[in-house]
Amino acid sequence: MDSHSPTLLKVENLSKQYLVKKTLFKKEFFKAVDNVSFSLDYNQILGIVGESGSGKSTIGKLVLKLIEKDTGKIQFEGREIDRMSPSEEKKFRKETSVIFQDPRTSLNPRFNVYQILEEPLIIHKFPKTERKERVKKAILDAGLDESFLGRYPSELSGGQRQRVAIARAIILSPKMILADEPTSALDVSVQLQIINLIKRMKEEKKISFLFISHDLNVVGMLADRIIVLYRGKIMEKGSAKDVLLNPLHPYTKILIQSLPPEHPRQRKKIEKLPEIYREEIKGGCVFYSRCPVAEERCKKEPELKKINGREVYCHFI
Ligand SMILES: Nc1ncnc2c1ncn2[C@@H]1O[C@H](COP(=O)(O)OP(=O)(O)OP(=O)(O)O)[C@@H](O)[C@H]1O
Ligand SMILES: [Mg+2]
Repeated sequence: MDSHSPTLLKVENLSKQYLVKKTLFKKEFFKAVDNVSFSLDYNQILGIVGESGSGKSTIGKLVLKLIEKDTGKIQFEGREIDRMSPSEEKKFRKETSVIFQDPRTSLNPRFNVYQILEEPLIIHKFPKTERKERVKKAILDAGLDESFLGRYPSELSGGQRQRVAIARAIILSPKMILADEPTSALDVSVQLQIINLIKRMKEEKKISFLFISHDLNVVGMLADRIIVLYRGKIMEKGSAKDVLLNPLHPYTKILIQSLPPEHPRQRKKIEKLPEIYREEIKGGCVFYSRCPVAEERCKKEPELKKINGREVYCHFI
């Protein structure tokens, strides 16, 4: 590790398209992630927010090397994840983990909680006594007690299951956790508990998080920095405070205006963007058709402009 660099993860010009249709003569691709760059520092939470289909999970999977990128560069502690030796790769797998949206499907129903938590320790060849200690410590750290170790996922509430998923994610003492919509399947009160638990994991264990959500309110409660994604592109990137209190991109402004903060149950999901103002165009700003202020120049693609430590994809900046 480069002890002078604050950067844990560095992503440069990352792109990924999926093959969506294939005939004898033609292949059709869909650009899910388009030229995305960002970095995540040690002991930091980076929120990635965007509506359904904007490419959030794809970014997460690329960063953890669960799928292959098309172009770009991903570095973890200064090492390119595509060029790691087998031992570096093993270390990378140990130092990164993931929490998914629905713990019902991410936890093996045939394993009890002890077995679920022990599995990564077996894979990484921890001796039995240490496995036992780590399992006990992790379940307590996740806010449950040892009586849960004998239970099966079907015998747990949604919040308890997500705590088990978090215990498993921290059991190898990772440096980075990808949390992909970890609170979206939970009731609002349980959401808050899980958000607080993630905050504690960052503060006490110095774990960095890539926190993915369609809910700007949730991201706002946790993130140090925020990326706003739309159709695979970064619309705006900056400190959480700047992005939430002084949004610059028209899309971010709409998202923030549509948040009723005192009534979390009435929170609108980003899936429902308000209007379609004009016809789609090819080659221009990707937000053109839904932008309330677009004009002629927006038919040309804007660059991601740097301004006071933030970046904004808009001609008006
Ligand atoms: N394996 C795949 N093959 C083809 N298209 C895919 C594949 N995976 C994702 N896509 C498409 O890529 C786009 C981005 O998907 P992704 O899952 O990254 O979005 P997301 O922002 O995580 O959405 P959600 O909030 O619904 O989870 C979507 O249009 C999706 O349909
Ligand atoms: Mg997703």
